[in-house]
Amino acid sequence: MTFPREFLWGTATAAYQIEGAAAEDGRGVSIWDTFSHTPGKTLNGDTGDVACDHYHRWREDLDHVTQLDVNAYRLSISWPRVQPGGKGPLNRAGVDFYRRLLDGLLARDVKPVVTLYHWDLPQELEDAGGWPSRDTALRFADYAEHMARELGDRVHMWTTLNEPWCSAYLGYASGVHAPGRTEPAAALAAVHHLNLGHGLAARAIKSALPDAHISLTLNLHVARPVDSQSVADQEAARKIDAIANRAFLGPVLDGAYSDDLLADTAHVTDWAFVQDGDTATARAPLDVLGVNYYSTQLVQYVAPGSGGSQDDGHAPSVGSPWVGADDVAFVRPAAPYTAMGWNIDPSGLTELLNRLGRDYPGLPLMVTENGAAFADELGSDGTVHDPQRVDYLHRHVAAVSDALDAGVDVRGYFAWSLLDNFEWSYGYDRRFGLIYLDYPTQKRIWKDSAYWYRDLIARRASRSEAQLVCRRGEPGRVSILSRDNQTDP
Ligand code: FCB
Repeated sequence: MTFPREFLWGTATAAYQIEGAAAEDGRGVSIWDTFSHTPGKTLNGDTGDVACDHYHRWREDLDHVTQLDVNAYRLSISWPRVQPGGKGPLNRAGVDFYRRLLDGLLARDVKPVVTLYHWDLPQELEDAGGWPSRDTALRFADYAEHMARELGDRVHMWTTLNEPWCSAYLGYASGVHAPGRTEPAAALAAVHHLNLGHGLAARAIKSALPDAHISLTLNLHVARPVDSQSVADQEAARKIDAIANRAFLGPVLDGAYSDDLLADTAHVTDWAFVQDGDTATARAPLDVLGVNYYSTQLVQYVAPGSGGSQDDGHAPSVGSPWVGADDVAFVRPAAPYTAMGWNIDPSGLTELLNRLGRDYPGLPLMVTENGAAFADELGSDGTVHDPQRVDYLHRHVAAVSDALDAGVDVRGYFAWSLLDNFEWSYGYDRRFGLIYLDYPTQKRIWKDSAYWYRDLIARRASRSEAQLVCRRGEPGRVSILSRDNQTDP
């Protein structure tokens, strides 16, 4: 495997999943506070009140980041911590926390990749309508501009939204994520206002910081037909691609919603919430597209309402997240599976990167999340052996390398996650970390995968150095050869 010299190797986290300190220093309430405190919404009633206590232990956590030897770290800002009601004045204590955190990363020579919205909408904005309401997109742009002005010089790359698919469809259609609503039409309005919010925020950041690098992270679905020869199953895959992928790629990269998406969902909504100029706004200049990838989906046509299997990996729910697709069933793909029940299939990652490279030439990509949950156990000798995670990560890094070899412009890879953390509706039961969290003591313990990742990064660095010297050596002169064959003496 070879990787470009400037490749970013990182780990990722999100504010609500690790910070804790939910009621400290003026932080406001988010929809995830409300949701997790509602009985029955999360496994074991877990909440993010304490989580990994990262708000207090961030220095120790940054030391782990340094020891992993990553050159980038992806974090998110808690909107209610910096702007408690989602509008109005900033909470200085919250902003100062992120200033210190970013300064800590820069002092350790780690590039901060900062997500503005990783699902923790201020509750007051949800009370005013949430993402189905247009005003939330405007408030989001305002918050983004504040952050650009306050923190801009410290941020390597901004990501407007993390996985708007989850915000819209799991939050407003299936209801397994906050705010837990099950209103299909509202979910499509949320899709649109998230796209609009992305475009407005990207433009607001650029106006405050002309040199800012902007990205958006999507969890695009690789939905394959059960029977690749069946026209009906191919149609099922097309429909899922429209709702899950092109509902975001369309406006953000092509400047329009596709006709098939509008037709598929016409019985749910007339899309009247899309105003003139909105999709042009959503299509803001993008420096990088972030890709979160975990597994694939297998889909099949079924007679509408016949109640086919819905094993889509997104937790059982009363409402379906697949708005407008009640003639599509999700069949469980072949083993092996992670503790989330997600199938392990690195080929889907290469397929997805290759597709994006083909459809959007010139748009750099970055794998902003990839990882796996397994039932890790802390041994009596204080070690955590997680060979399955090492294997998962290794095979997915190789899948990225395959895409690079095919000529796709991939700029980085971020392992999800630095630490075990609050895995949304699964609470603390599912462990994705490279570092094990002993929650009663808050002790951080490196799993074998953390050592493996550190060594992988070290090997990659030294290997590319070795190649640099031997590929173009001339007596008395060493030229550095980069991936695109430009010499850089
Ligand atoms: C992604 C989320 C991230 C984490 C992983 C496992 O969908 O972005 O916060 O929960 O899944």
